[in-house]
Amino acid sequence: MRNQLRRDLTLIDAIGVGLGAIIGAGIFVVTGVAAGVAGPAFLLGMLIAAGVATCNALSSAQLAATYPQSGGTYEYGYRLLHPWLGFAAGWMFLASKLAAGGTVALGFAGYLAALIPGLPERPTAVAAIILLVGVNYFGVSKGGRLNTIIVSITLAALGYFVIAGIPAFDSNNLRPFAPAGWQGVLQSAALLFFAYTGYARLATLGEEVHEPKVTIPRAIVIALGTAALLYAAVALVAVGGVGADAMAGTASPLERAAAAFTLPGIGLVIGLGAVTAMLGVLLSQILGISRMAFAMARRRDFPTFFDHVNPAYGVPDRGLFLTGLILILVAVFGTLEVIVAAASFTILLYYSITNLAALRMDTADRLFPQWIAVLGLVSCLTLAVTLSPPIIASGLGLLAIGFVLRWFYRQATQV
Ligand code: ALA
Repeated sequence: MRNQLRRDLTLIDAIGVGLGAIIGAGIFVVTGVAAGVAGPAFLLGMLIAAGVATCNALSSAQLAATYPQSGGTYEYGYRLLHPWLGFAAGWMFLASKLAAGGTVALGFAGYLAALIPGLPERPTAVAAIILLVGVNYFGVSKGGRLNTIIVSITLAALGYFVIAGIPAFDSNNLRPFAPAGWQGVLQSAALLFFAYTGYARLATLGEEVHEPKVTIPRAIVIALGTAALLYAAVALVAVGGVGADAMAGTASPLERAAAAFTLPGIGLVIGLGAVTAMLGVLLSQILGISRMAFAMARRRDFPTFFDHVNPAYGVPDRGLFLTGLILILVAVFGTLEVIVAAASFTILLYYSITNLAALRMDTADRLFPQWIAVLGLVSCLTLAVTLSPPIIASGLGLLAIGFVLRWFYRQATQV
């Protein structure tokens, strides 16, 4: 879909692209859900999730360095494992990004409603989806300058939040620390893994940076490290300011915490930071989903009707409209707790396949020791099974439905 790209992104630019794709509903929304399941010990879950994300990201980076075509684990699964596993990765990617996109849209609406009281949340989420499908349709992606502006606003807002939260910190709010024990901590880690996803966007920059084999792994580690430090500081002052119970059960936990801080304008600042960050993440998610549906349709893993590029704008238009339609259904009917968990389970399965593929790479192509992919695989599966049984059953059921549909579709359209 693209010709040779110019290698003009520096390490700093690449880190900016990574942070733009990473920071979104995870810190602004999912921290509330995670505080609900683990209490203040979700802080530990956040650190565990950062470690798991780093292993997965390094596996993605070495695969992307060897197989620079777009398509991510869908592509690696096909090449290194088995077509059914490649399909499973693509199908799980679609499911997880659709659930995550719904989460981001609802989170966006929650924060906007806090800025503009009386704004109805679900219609606002639907309006955001329609707007961003439109932006994607006309071929505008989150390019260099727009991304820099979004990331700068987000980082400034979160930095101000941390400063504003320090005077309000009360260690009593951290007690009891882990009311749900280790099970709660691991479950919160599974949910908060969501907050670090987006780094795969960095693995796709192979043609746009100098010395990609060095620059991309470095950018991934720095972007994830920066996100982890910032998340830890933000989450610590939020829970220290108002406690885990106050953060749970709201779609805008940082706004809830900011209401207890006294620095001027903090509510407005965190609201603006949240709204811009989530619009940016939703834009790249819509792009990613529609591109995956397009890539899968080319191999008849998805109806070939979606193997279509708009001649005027060069975008996979049918995949884009389908993405918008399903996202709207998720945003209208989904509840935050369910869609966050569904997004987490399916993305953990996706990265399990990424790590499996990394284990099958030729020794000569490997950039990192095998234990990283082994640790990534084991930790993804461990976190996935801590989620609630109905979510696990629905995720596996969805996978089974995908397999059956693929089988029938390929039988029916045999050439
Ligand atoms: N990591 C992205 C977010 O937190 C998906 O919104």
